[in-house]
Amino acid sequence: MAGSTFGTLFRLTTWGESHGPAVGCVVDGCPPGIPLTERDIQEDLDRRRPGQSRLTTQRKEEDAVEILSGLFEGVTAGTPISLMVRNADARSKDYSEMKDLYRPSHADYTYQAKYGVRDYRGGGRASYREAVGRVAGGAVARRLLAERGGIEIAAYVLQVSDIRGEVDPAAVTRETVDANIVRCPDPVAAEQMIAAIEQARKDGDSLGGIVEVVARNVPPGLGEPVFDKLTADFARALMSLPAARGFEVGSGFASVLMRGSTHNDPFRMREGRVRTETNFSGGIQGGISNGEDILLRVAFKPTATIMREQQTVTTSGEEVTFRAKGRHDPCVLPRAVAGVEAMVALVLADHLLRQNTLNF
Ligand SMILES: Cc1cc2nc3c(=O)[nH]c(=O)nc-3n(C[C@H](O)[C@H](O)[C@H](O)COP(=O)(O)O)c2cc1C
Repeated sequence: MAGSTFGTLFRLTTWGESHGPAVGCVVDGCPPGIPLTERDIQEDLDRRRPGQSRLTTQRKEEDAVEILSGLFEGVTAGTPISLMVRNADARSKDYSEMKDLYRPSHADYTYQAKYGVRDYRGGGRASYREAVGRVAGGAVARRLLAERGGIEIAAYVLQVSDIRGEVDPAAVTRETVDANIVRCPDPVAAEQMIAAIEQARKDGDSLGGIVEVVARNVPPGLGEPVFDKLTADFARALMSLPAARGFEVGSGFASVLMRGSTHNDPFRMREGRVRTETNFSGGIQGGISNGEDILLRVAFKPTATIMREQQTVTTSGEEVTFRAKGRHDPCVLPRAVAGVEAMVALVLADHLLRQNTLNF
């Protein structure tokens, strides 16, 4: 039942629907004394926000965060942190056409089948608007990781459709990611991606792609064998994002074509520490971080709601065709970056706290 809470010690609950009065989250289990400002949270929310560029949905939402509890004099108080964002540009009438039918490959039919009642306006909890709570809570996790572990996380668009960037994960910064509107740090590939997304929008169609994410300065030892392996928790966290279709760690599916002799990461001593020469493991071995950069990838499908005639059925079982109106992302990738970073931050914050209980 339920399913709106994530994490064991650092726990996030998100709440709210796309077209209700507000969306938000409660973060419980954040230790006291972590410096946190509204601006830290707002900066991350602004990267999730619709209407940021010509590549995203043109819905205009300010997404101004309100901190309702859990902070005192600029630091976390150790009590539940409640964060809220009021919904603004909710044109429910854009969705009235979806009241009586199921959009192909969206969550309309399955929500109806499950609950027998469905908030058809903007996809309710299936909308990426729910991720406001994830991104706001993720910003708290990010501050904890930076403050207590010097851990930093950077996600970026690696691939859109068949256009793949060449990116050195070790060198990526938020500045290089946000240098262009598609959020790919390879400027040549970025231009091609932008052109492809604009063409798809003109065609009334949509494109998928891959977000890659790196976490640096993660200490060795995070992750709990056997069912709460770091790999397993990242997979669960990232596959819970809407439109996620695949997950990889390190060499991922490409490892299938390699042999052990080239895939193994040789150990070396560097500056008195155990290091690996290569990082096909993606920083995780046996479900536990090994101190190298953590490297993950998430595949996202092409946006379901497209501006083309499609075959579907109505809630009363009649076969019809329909063409969506409304304002939708022709490619979810540029805005998905914020959600991916948030989920990685939440997993690492949880495991950092869990690891510290070992030495209690
Ligand atoms: C960043 C982002 C933006 C999205 N924007 C839209 C959108 O504008 N229109 C749409 O139909 N789906 C959009 N989605 C995807 C739907 O939320 C998702 O496809 C739907 O909930 C069904 O879930 P599933 O695709 O995981 O099966 C978006 C997803 C993400 C990650």
